[in-house]
Amino acid sequence: MLRTWNIETVGKVGETVRVNGWAHRVRRMGDKLVFIDLRDSTGLLQVVCYKPDLDPATAAAVDAIGPEYILQIEGVVQKRGDKQVNADLPTGTVEVVAKQVTVQNVSATPPFEIDQDTRQVNEELRLKYRYLDLRSERMQRNIRLRDTIIAFFRDYMHKNCFVEIETPILMKGTPEGSREYIVPSRLHEGKFYVLPQSPQQFKQLSMVAGFERYFQIARCFRDEDQRGDRQPEFTQLDFEMSFVTQEDILQYTEAMFIALVETLFPEKRISKRPFPRLTYAESMKRYGNDKPDLREDKNDPNELAFAWVLDFPMFEVDDEGTIAAKHHPFCSIKEEDREKFMRGEDLMAIRANAYDLVLNGYELSSGSIRIHERELQKRIFDLLQVSEEDQKLRFGHMLEAFTYGAPPHGGFAPGIDRIAMLMAGELNIREVIAFPKTGDARDPMMGAPSDLPAKSLREAHIAIRQD
Ligand code: AMO
Repeated sequence: MLRTWNIETVGKVGETVRVNGWAHRVRRMGDKLVFIDLRDSTGLLQVVCYKPDLDPATAAAVDAIGPEYILQIEGVVQKRGDKQVNADLPTGTVEVVAKQVTVQNVSATPPFEIDQDTRQVNEELRLKYRYLDLRSERMQRNIRLRDTIIAFFRDYMHKNCFVEIETPILMKGTPEGSREYIVPSRLHEGKFYVLPQSPQQFKQLSMVAGFERYFQIARCFRDEDQRGDRQPEFTQLDFEMSFVTQEDILQYTEAMFIALVETLFPEKRISKRPFPRLTYAESMKRYGNDKPDLREDKNDPNELAFAWVLDFPMFEVDDEGTIAAKHHPFCSIKEEDREKFMRGEDLMAIRANAYDLVLNGYELSSGSIRIHERELQKRIFDLLQVSEEDQKLRFGHMLEAFTYGAPPHGGFAPGIDRIAMLMAGELNIREVIAFPKTGDARDPMMGAPSDLPAKSLREAHIAIRQD
């Protein structure tokens, strides 16, 4: 007999079925009657075991069942009486009367209750036993919600002629401001790859390569201090378009987010359409930050207050007192500020064609119209005080690519984790990432980061300093 999903039993009243899953809850009513809530990935199903009707092996199996045991049950689907209907369960109109019950695997007692919301459980414990945490209803819902968001974006992008291109994970450093994860090379002693903070350079090079519309559900890695909305590895809907203006990107993105909400979250309400637009300067002046929370009612879990923040400064002075690119050094300069830029004057007042999308006080996405001319790109590096030698070494490939007919282009990169977090009504992106890291970048389940055998270190040409 083929397996029937729990949810399918609703349409199989009177039929004999085989169902499989986990013993979610077991209720023993005296000696004879046992109710099992069987859980599979489609939800719960009530199974009734009346022991006097069962063969001895099955009756013994039923006696042995504990929480989270893996069961295979054959039985007949029957309609529940009117009073027994459970309106909270999608399978609440039926139950399966067991004929045969097999225990396919036993389970140790889980370290926390997974038939409850696990938010109250110690986080270290949740992450150590993440595969159990993920069994809980809320976590199943969050991870599936994330999947529907990614599927929506992929489909939307393809329908709009974008091509998904996978870019390298082992690459050369890109100057986007965050500390990079370093990977030693075995074949090239003393040399290193880094993991991408984002596919920024590759997506721009895909424009030079003539694809015109690139996207990727892209994994990014940043060795930075953690916060509730930050993880060392996270996912972006990374995209880039050729022959576009800032307005094209804003309109494309706005339509996509409206379609996302209308399709997947019809219960939610977008407070203002078109999304309000503020300049960076206005936002800082009015709200004291560049990601204002414009909700009308902060207690309404269904309100979505999107807003655009435009005209970010091109430069900033970083923590060490040196001049740095505020977003990254590939942003183009606003036409009005071009003269100042060419003269190298009043650098902090020079604005880039750089924009953010914010939602309910979170930065959801950043992007810009890029530079596509070698001389202008060089000028930025000069102003950033990158020496000629360093320019060649670090960015020679970009400067060279721009000499071979690079089209004007620009792009954007909404953070998938933050979108999923806000749509799920969660306060931490760990709640929408299947296997996240702790606040100090550890994985308590696998025990990463970890020591390596001496042989692996030798092969990677690494010696651990003893001091
Ligand atoms: P940026 O660095 O602003 O831009 O990142 C874009 C979006 O990615 C998400 N994000 C994060 N999410 C979780 N954890 C993190 N540590 C983290 N860091 C960033 C945010 C953010 O808005 N290459 C440029 C984009 C471009 O110019 O097209 C970039 O990566 O939602």
